[in-house]
Amino acid sequence: MKKNFLIATIALFAIQCSKSDVKTEVSTDKIAVENLEKSEEISTDSLKIFAGETKKLLVKNITAQIAKGGVESSEEFCNIEAMPLTKSMSDKHGLFISRVSDKMRNPKNIANAEELKLIKNYKKQLLAGEILKPIRTETHYYEPLLTNAMCLQCHGEPGKNIQPKVVAEIAQLYPKDLATGYKDNEVRGLISIKTK
Ligand code: HEC
Repeated sequence: MKKNFLIATIALFAIQCSKSDVKTEVSTDKIAVENLEKSEEISTDSLKIFAGETKKLLVKNITAQIAKGGVESSEEFCNIEAMPLTKSMSDKHGLFISRVSDKMRNPKNIANAEELKLIKNYKKQLLAGEILKPIRTETHYYEPLLTNAMCLQCHGEPGKNIQPKVVAEIAQLYPKDLATGYKDNEVRGLISIKTK
């Protein structure tokens, strides 16, 4: 099962991020083993695990890319973190997982009113030194996404943390980019999982 998932993920990576409606080679497999019964109420613990897996996968891809010597081509760049990844996780678990932000790079990742409220609140809590907790509502599960030093290579200060080559790639691929200027340990956005 793990192997199938890996193959499906790789297949998805071949698709460029500029294509918004990602073709889903992955769905033929439907990752049946871990799909949940529709009627089953999913536990918050399971959701925590899914969110954690998604984060780990993202970080793994970024780390691998950076270890390889950085961002070589635009195609590689947009595939590092792009929607196919969250899409593959969504298909794997039969849940809709997305990453959203108030200052997004990809306009498709724009936070809605509810998510904006949560982001604002998480920012306030972070400033106050409080622990940021996941939030479960009737229809969603949310977790904050915080920046660390690694994130700044693509979300920090252009020219300072972000290398000129990467600045140019961002400008080309994401002309409406808002997702720079971050510092370490700031609220970058949310993982949002639709449970119903
Ligand atoms: C190698 C470059 C790179 C690094 C490093 C990186 N990101 Fe990103 N990030 C991107 C790109 C490119 C996108 C746009 C993806 C897309 O098109 O969906 C993005 C999008 C996002 C989004 C979705 C919202 C949006 O702005 O579109 C979040 C949230 C995010 N990144 C958080 C992080 C966090 C947190 C880290 C560090 C753990 C990180 N990123 C590290 C390149 C990077």
